[in-house]
Amino acid sequence: MSKRHLAFVCQNCGAAASRWQGRCEACGEWNSLTEEGGDKPVGPRKPAKGRLFKLEPLTGEAKDAPRLPSGLSELDRVTGGGFVRGSVILMAGDPGIGKSTLLIQASAALARAGHRAVYISGEEAAAQVRLRAERLGLSDAPVELASETSVEDIIATLSEGKVPRLIIIDSIQTMWTDAVESAPGTVTQVRGAAQTLIRFAKRSGAAVILVGHVTKDGQIAGPRVVEHMVDAVLSFEGEGSHQFRILRAVKNRFGPTDEIGVFEMTGAGLREVSNPSELFLSERDLGSPGTAVFAGMEGTRPLLVEIQALVAPTSLGTPRRAVVGWDSSRLAMVLAVLEAHCGVKLGGYDVYLNVAGGMRINEPAADLAAAAALISSLANSPLPADAVYFGEVSLSGAIRPVSHSPARLKEAAKLGFARAVMPEAARGEAGDPAIRFMTVGQLSGLVADIAALGKPRPVAEPRRKDG
Ligand code: TYD
Ligand code: MG
Repeated sequence: MSKRHLAFVCQNCGAAASRWQGRCEACGEWNSLTEEGGDKPVGPRKPAKGRLFKLEPLTGEAKDAPRLPSGLSELDRVTGGGFVRGSVILMAGDPGIGKSTLLIQASAALARAGHRAVYISGEEAAAQVRLRAERLGLSDAPVELASETSVEDIIATLSEGKVPRLIIIDSIQTMWTDAVESAPGTVTQVRGAAQTLIRFAKRSGAAVILVGHVTKDGQIAGPRVVEHMVDAVLSFEGEGSHQFRILRAVKNRFGPTDEIGVFEMTGAGLREVSNPSELFLSERDLGSPGTAVFAGMEGTRPLLVEIQALVAPTSLGTPRRAVVGWDSSRLAMVLAVLEAHCGVKLGGYDVYLNVAGGMRINEPAADLAAAAALISSLANSPLPADAVYFGEVSLSGAIRPVSHSPARLKEAAKLGFARAVMPEAARGEAGDPAIRFMTVGQLSGLVADIAALGKPRPVAEPRRKDG
């Protein structure tokens, strides 16, 4: 056998090494190096003469509509308006989250609209995919179906006849190509197969969606390099016990990355949720302390979610801080501001924070709602059920303005909320008379207000400065 170089490949990051090591030098992962056939033997080769190609101007005429809406508007919202010709999307998610279901629904919708859609499954037999389609009521859609794993065979078959408008490869981890010698499932194979499929997409103009599995720690299994090779990476998320599924763009060369698509997994497949606020607030615990409604934004769409907090005396030496659906360092920051500027002592308390419905919030605007929920739980006094909160807390304890206040207020009014607690500075741009607004300049002001709520009061709600 000829001498091979770089025959050990890290299964986490795809870095190559010439000998086995316990730890990958590139990514630091332990025990991730596996011997692979390696690329072709390195040796002196006759340099091939390059093929001449045509250079084109930027202003060429586009052959066809460059984007094709999928027929699922929540999916289109995330991709930025539909599938772009010749583009490749990686759809990543935990096993069982609903990737195959979403993609068979999307391909059926496209096929019904008269486009050629091909679904290649490397995991399930064609009969299994057909069975699922039947269950979803999609049997009549003219989707072309196959169970195949050889990339060369797939490309040869799809090169015949009319170019497919959409090709689903479910999943990229099951594909293998002759071009590399490694075993199927290895990083080198996944990368090689992805490369070949991407080249086919660019050449033929078909949009290709690669399904990718995610490992336990949330990484897209196999090479991270596939993420860099494709045009867009969509992540399909959801808490196992909730029926909500959220589609996010992690990377998108042709659209925004802050939009989310919301779906609900039902017995008849994924249902689009066009008014997610209603869904996230559908099971509210009215009148219990420690919950606050946050008027958030996801991309261009306002989204109301409930933030729940529990502050309880600790029985341990070091109090616990646990957070689901929000950034734990932001929680630490809000707690520090409460201690330092508002006289709220939390050193002897465990603190738990949860975003209801399996939603994950990234916005700093959630600071004020989180703080309100925390104080409400500590004071054991429920917040008004008809109030929403938004605003960023700065380290000095000031409440800072956030973007899109009018959209947040409008959504809150639409869902029947009567008042909004928000930054002082947002008063100017908030022109909506449908909702009363109370502004707070300092976090300590909010603490005092909530403490006042807890006092027994004979009359109705204390009236506060209105907008
Ligand atoms: P699937 O699309 O196979 O997930 P993935 O391809 O991401 O691994 O979805 C599997 C789960 O979805 C399974 O637990 C059953 C559930 N499901 C429904 O609840 N309703 C349905 O109509 C379908 C098709 C699946
Ligand atoms: Mg699947």
